[in-house]
Order: sequence, then structure tokens, then C-alpha cells
Amino acid sequence: MIRYEALHGRDCSLVLEVRGTGAPIWRHWGGRIADSLAPPPLADGRGSTSFSLDTDLPLTTAPGFGHGWFDRPFLLASRGAQHVGVEFDCCTVERDGDALVVRLTDTVARVALDQRFELDPASDVVEASATITNCGDTPLDLGWLASALLPLPGDCRWVRSFTGRHNAELVETVEPMPAHGWRRENRRGLTGHAGPPGLFVLRDGATAHAGDVFACQLAWSGNHVLAMDHSDEGYWTLQAGVWLAPGEIRLEPGAHFAAPPLLATFARTGSNGASQNFHTAIRRRGPWAGSPPPPRPVHLNSWEACYFDHDEARIGALAERAAAIGVERFVLDDGWFAGRSDDRRGLGDWTPDPAKYPQGLAALAGHVTALGMEFGLWVEPEMVNPDSDLYRAHPDWALGAAGRPLRTARHQLVLDMSRAEVRDHLFARIDALLATLPITYLKWDHNRDLAPAEDAEGRARYHAQVTGSYALIDRIRAAHPAVELEACAGGGGRIDAGIATRTHRFWTSDNLDAVSRVAIQRGFLAFMPPELMGAHVGASPAHATGRRQSIGFRAGVALPGHFGLELDPGKLDAADHAALATAITRYKAWRARLHSGRVWQGEAADGLVWHAAGEPGDLLLLVTRIAPASNRRPQPVRLPMLADVPALTARLEALVGMRHDGTDLPPLFAQMRDGGAAFAGDWLAAVGLPVPPMHAESVAVFSLRAA
Ligand code: GLA
Repeated sequence: MIRYEALHGRDCSLVLEVRGTGAPIWRHWGGRIADSLAPPPLADGRGSTSFSLDTDLPLTTAPGFGHGWFDRPFLLASRGAQHVGVEFDCCTVERDGDALVVRLTDTVARVALDQRFELDPASDVVEASATITNCGDTPLDLGWLASALLPLPGDCRWVRSFTGRHNAELVETVEPMPAHGWRRENRRGLTGHAGPPGLFVLRDGATAHAGDVFACQLAWSGNHVLAMDHSDEGYWTLQAGVWLAPGEIRLEPGAHFAAPPLLATFARTGSNGASQNFHTAIRRRGPWAGSPPPPRPVHLNSWEACYFDHDEARIGALAERAAAIGVERFVLDDGWFAGRSDDRRGLGDWTPDPAKYPQGLAALAGHVTALGMEFGLWVEPEMVNPDSDLYRAHPDWALGAAGRPLRTARHQLVLDMSRAEVRDHLFARIDALLATLPITYLKWDHNRDLAPAEDAEGRARYHAQVTGSYALIDRIRAAHPAVELEACAGGGGRIDAGIATRTHRFWTSDNLDAVSRVAIQRGFLAFMPPELMGAHVGASPAHATGRRQSIGFRAGVALPGHFGLELDPGKLDAADHAALATAITRYKAWRARLHSGRVWQGEAADGLVWHAAGEPGDLLLLVTRIAPASNRRPQPVRLPMLADVPALTARLEALVGMRHDGTDLPPLFAQMRDGGAAFAGDWLAAVGLPVPPMHAESVAVFSLRAA
């Protein structure tokens, strides 16, 4: 008896062919089809090919190795020397709201597999997950369990993914679809500076704004694998899951292992449409559960303003200058705790440094709140310096490898988060800070990779480290639900959908150079919505690169994200101070429009890049020029999302980073600045919006409202 189970979203559908035995056959993941489908069954219907098994084995949701499936399997497992190749003999598929729940059992291999595919119609994102249970009476060693294995059609052309390092996160790469296979693996123990474990696959003809795009991101903050394999049948498979070290996961009889969810989406509207789907899904899964977040307050973060060099008087004065320019949340970064005179000592001892803060942090926090700002604090709970009281008391709490030297990075070691006593200790320390100080915000850092990460028996603890960190964060969030969290790992080393359910902001990069930042932020926005994107105005020259940029450009680049400062406003000259104050006022006026609705990112002729936020009838558009123009005149910027809006008024709201003050604009742009110019939406979509001549390193901000 064959039947079909389907899930339908706005623009996409997922169809499984279900038989009584064997995992469900993948029939479709892609464009929306009618609900009344009854395609001819695939099983036993399509005949055999030469040099094939006589039993047809179409692609299922859970193909195993060893019984005729020659492409990459969904599962690799063993019992001692015995290979466990699965061939499920019982399959049930049930609906649970918008989800399909697949239950598979293999009575020979004695494993059970539960798969869940939930298609959220609001986002068109499928959340796919898998849990394996050892039903045998001997331990099961797991080598690989995909969170999901998805089909990609044979006319896919390009894979768009990201690489990166500290200070250069989310570097975009575009490659042809592989003839054999494509892999991105991470064994650093945390997400890594390449950004979320995810990718975009563009079908033939797809672009940023049109055409079929498949995309995924794994909701996980640790080691991972993304893999695409070309099947000699002519299609590709896409898998993602946790990278497991040998021996890392041993399931005792009755035990189970849950793979983290994979968020997978299909869009008809190009890779930007897939990003919009991710934004909706991340918002719905995040701490505000799909509601608009409270206005994202302007930050001042103390790090690049003074690094470790602080004390109560100096920081108090910085806070006064921050409040005076319009800052709403003051974040005291690294350097506040006992012994922390540099990055060689102190991590783990989460009590205020009596030399810098003789009265503790209460006086400073009171000063900050009396100035009308929220008070935020930096912590790095998973870490310990060997030169710390915590390490001296509990050297065995640090991850290492028996018989091997300890490997420090930034002079620090990593605490074993899988141990309950470690988590209890950290909870008590952080809880004490949150209970005694008016802290509304924690910047939660993680400044190194894991190496080595073994327990006393020599078993790898990478996976357990992530679940332990999640457990600690969840406990703190439950005890202090009003406190917001920022995920940071040497800038953007822990940006992913797993931690995004628990945190309210990401620190995108330690590189505050605004030119570098344009590309980093565009990569970030491929996966995450703009209100989560920490975006700071830093000093000039930029500490990470040494390049100089105007205050207008630095502020213009930070504008679309969660805006903040990471400099001392007292060090600016009067003109820059005034320009920064204006930028803060503008951000406050525009943040609701920037952080609700959708985001479109595009490229126009001659090096212009643009970012539009809102909805087609009410958009803020930021057009950025990084390098000098090659052409005599800027060419219009086409805005495809406006095609159906009958008439709009375009206003030039700001033009920052220019050598002049914008008073000598050509007449059309003076009109757009002073009152606005009328355009038909289809004109803006087909021909484009005229933009003024722009210097290198400048940003023009337009407001486009339906007339
Ligand atoms: C990391 C972060 C920075 C800062 C420092 C403090 O590098 O990314 O923003 O918090 O740690 O040590």
C-alpha cells in the first residue's frame, strides 16, 4: 500500500512516498504544487538500469550503507567490530500539525530512527531533525547521523557558501555544483568564523532576486559537516549534521542521540528570498518568538575605547560622554574582574577587580543607570586562565588530553561544560552578578577553539561541550528572563541558529573597518535578520586594519544593524562628534523600519551595493559606494520588489561620507532631498532609482513610500 504525505508552504512543498517498510522515498522538495497530487508511484515503477541491483532503491529520507545504497549514507554506526547498516523494516508516518513525524525501526540492526519535518508556512522553512535510539543489548557507536538528507534536482548550477577567519568573517564564495562531492567541515569545537553552517544552491538561471534557490543552515554551535554528493542517477543529495570524532558518541542499550535541527528552505525569489525565509524562521524561533523586538538600544561597548585599561573614574567618565551623545546601553567589556590587567590572567574569577573597582561594580552600574542607560557586562564563562584562582582550585575542570600538554590559546583553557559541577559553579557566579547588579545585558564571549577536548577516559567531548554550554545559557535565561544575551566568539565565531534561540544579538566581527564590514554584514544577513547584527562605529584608523574612514561612512555602514559605538566620543573633534550624534538620532528614528519587515540586498552597476528594509510600500534604502566610480554617471539602482507598487515618493534622507556637505546636489537630488520625487513602482523595478554621484566610502539613504 503506497501513499503520499505532503507539506505545503507559501511557495514550496515537500512530498514523501510512504510504504509500509523502508524509509519514505523523497518525491519532492521544491516549488509549491497542488495539494491534490497523486503522482505515479516511484517504487517498483521506473524499471531498472544496467549494472544495478535487481531491487530498485530510490532515494529515501534515511538511506543506509551496505545494502545497495552506494551514495553517502545517512547513518554510519557499529557495534564493536560489527558494522550496523540499516534497512528499516517498519515505517510509520504521522502528521503533527505542520509536521510529518517518521518512525523507522530496523529489527535486524536493532535501531530506531525518528525523523521530523516541520514546514512553517510563514517562513517556508522546513525544520528537519533526527533522533536515533539503540534498541539492541550492546553499545552502539555512532560515526555519523545526518540531521537531514535532502534531494537537490539535477539542474542546480551554483553553490554559494562562506569561509572566514577572525576579523574576516563570512567571506562569500560561489562555485559550480560539484561533479563528485562538496564538503564543508568544521572541527574547531564551535561554529567558526565562516558563519552559520549553511549554504545556498542556485538552480539554473537563479539570481539574487529571481529563480529557484535551495538553502540550509544547521542549528548548531559546534563541529559540523555540510555535504553535497552527486549521484550517478543525476541529482545531488544535501546532508548536514554534527561532525563526530571517533568514539565520541557511544549509545548504551536504550540510549538515544538527537541530531540538531537543520533549517532548510526553498525560494522562488532567488537567494535573497531564501535569506528572507531564514530571517522569518530565526525571528520565530528566537527569544521574541516572532514578535517585533523592543527597539534595539544604541550601545557603547568599552572594548576598543579602553581595552583592559579601566577603573571606576575612567569608565564613569566614558559613560557620561556616552549618555551625552545618545547612547542607551553601556556595555562594560573585558577587564573588569579580579586580576584582569591583560589577557594572560583572571578568566574564571568573576568578581570585580578590587584595584579597579574598590566599591565593586554597584557604584558604576548605579552611575550608568542614573545617566539613563542600561548596564551590560562582558563575560566569558566557558574559559579559564591557568593564572586564576578558579584554575588553581580546580585544574581538572579544564578540557585537555591525558598525557598531553595543555594547549592554551590567548593564554586560556576551556572548561569542561559537560560536567554538572562546572556548570553549577558558573551558574552561581553569573547568577550572583545578575542578582546583585542592575545588569540587563550579558555579552557572552568564547575566545578560542577547542583543542584538545577529552575527558579523563580520553573520549572526545566536543558535542557534550556544546550541549553543556546550551544548558548553562538556558538555566541563566530561565532564572533571569529579562536579561538579554549577545553571542560573541572573537567577533563572529559563534553565529548560528542553535544559539540564536537563546541570544538577542551577535557580535558580528572584531573588525570595525567599515569597508571590511560591508561584506561581513552582507554575509551575516544571508542567514540572520538585521536586528541581531551587532554593528559598531569604531575609531579611525580602524584598529583591525589601520585604514581610515570618515565618521559618516562608519556610521552609515553600521546603520542597518543593532547600532552601537566602540570608541570614546570624547576623542572625536567637534565636527565628527556632531556627525555621530546626528547618526544616532537617525538610527533611533529609523530603527523600527530597519528591524521589522523584510531585507533585500542587491548590487547595482559600477560597484554600488544596496540594502532595503521594510515592505515594498514603505522602504528604507541604503546605497553604498565603497570604491571610486569608474563610470561618468551612476546608473540607476533597480529595485525588483517594487514592481507592484503603483506610485512611490522617493526622498533622499541622508548622504554621508561625502567630501562636501551635500548642499551642491544636482537639482533632481536636491528635489529628492527637499520634498521627494514621484516614481511608478514598475519604473523603479525595471529602470531603477536615480542615485546621486557618490564619493568612494559614502552611503545614500532613501525613504521610499507608497504615494
Ligand atoms: C573578543 C571580542 C571582543 C572583546 C574581546 C575582549 O575578542 O570579540 O569584542 O570582547 O574579546 O577580550
